[in-house]
Amino acid sequence: AETVTRGDDGVVGVAGIPVTRLAEEFGTPAYILDEDDFRTRARAWRTAFGPDADVFYAGKAFLSRAVVRWLDEEGLNLDVCSGGELATALSAGMPAERIAFHGNNKSVEEIRRAVEAGVGRIVLDSFQEIVRVAHTARSLGKRQKVQIRITVGVEAHTHEFIATAHEDQKFGIPLAGGQAAEAVRRALQLDGLELIGIHSHIGSQIFDMSGFEVAAHRVVGLLKDIRDEHGVELPEIDLGGGLGIAYTSADDPREPHEIAKALTEIVTRECEAARLRTPRISVEPGRAIVGPTAFTLYEVGTVKPLDGLRTYVSVDGGMSDNIRTALYDAEYSVALVSRASDAEPMLARVVGKHCESGDIVVKDAFLPADLAPGDLVAVPATGAYCRSMASNYNHVLRPPVVAVRDGEARVIVRRETEEDLLRLDVG
Ligand code: LLP
Repeated sequence: AETVTRGDDGVVGVAGIPVTRLAEEFGTPAYILDEDDFRTRARAWRTAFGPDADVFYAGKAFLSRAVVRWLDEEGLNLDVCSGGELATALSAGMPAERIAFHGNNKSVEEIRRAVEAGVGRIVLDSFQEIVRVAHTARSLGKRQKVQIRITVGVEAHTHEFIATAHEDQKFGIPLAGGQAAEAVRRALQLDGLELIGIHSHIGSQIFDMSGFEVAAHRVVGLLKDIRDEHGVELPEIDLGGGLGIAYTSADDPREPHEIAKALTEIVTRECEAARLRTPRISVEPGRAIVGPTAFTLYEVGTVKPLDGLRTYVSVDGGMSDNIRTALYDAEYSVALVSRASDAEPMLARVVGKHCESGDIVVKDAFLPADLAPGDLVAVPATGAYCRSMASNYNHVLRPPVVAVRDGEARVIVRRETEEDLLRLDVG
């Protein structure tokens, strides 16, 4: 986060609050989220894309009512991908027309709620869904704005599980073999639907812009085919999210204004070549907005040196609050934040308290050799896909999210309690 400082005593502070105080007041583990940093990043995206484009924050990265209000205030729209995310957005007062509804298998009930609420767009992901949404909209006497998500056949250079535009995966309708063109044909025929554009999302944690370039080229190619076949120029294209952030110092992310400039230039150039009016562009960053804004604060419980190997440092959370290391081999860093130390660095592995050896938070890290139980450590860049993918494995309670701003801290998602767990257990 932006407002992190380290005092003379070695204690790290965020937004003017020492982490030792945060740990005392809110307990550990806890996600500490810097609200100003979040707002600054959201605004940077908004400003970079300007009034002729739309930025949809991808709620899957992390969503809570406070976040929805910040987005609303900063002029961003919101991408939701389930009934639960939709409910959160609506309950926090996000205007429905600024919500996009995603997902490859939305239930009929979810579709009905979205149409009824008046969401700004539903992103269609299959032939069945084209019919389902059209039918639902008609039965409610409405015409629903939709986009069709296509897969452009790009290999994004990222982990296999988070790449989404190559052909052999579950999302979208393939451009190859004329399927996307056929989907457009059907959508244009159904009066429950107003087809406003084409959507493409190529993956996540991407640094190389060339994938977006190919995607934009192919999406514009489809717009041209649609114009030639149907005589309509679709007014919008959505290029998805997926921009990478720095988890360790090895990563070198692009700034929103560079991304906006690159994407706008590509689309404009491609449209000029195809003699099309340049459509309104939208993007859906999640990680790039919320990822860097939070860190996880843990307390060290045990320190176990294994001769000739490394030292295992157990913290009071683990794969239940950050599954990304186990699932994607993600890399994180870690630092001692509750005191100064001039001890030699030791090779450490930060692990959680769960009952499996894959429960690793930080695979390889150097921590001071005098690290001891009771020390606080922080793992940066855990704002995206950590709380939102948290689980109750081993009946461990999910940590709170504490927002800090101008010397004040407040809980925006509270810590789970044993009562919360037992409430669901009705057997
Ligand atoms: N739009 C669509 C249609 C998406 O599927 C996603 C992410 C986004 C936008 C936002 O992508 P972002 O800007 O956050 O990269 N759990 C994985 C990431 C899964 C991303 C799924 N879709 C992780 O922890 O890395």
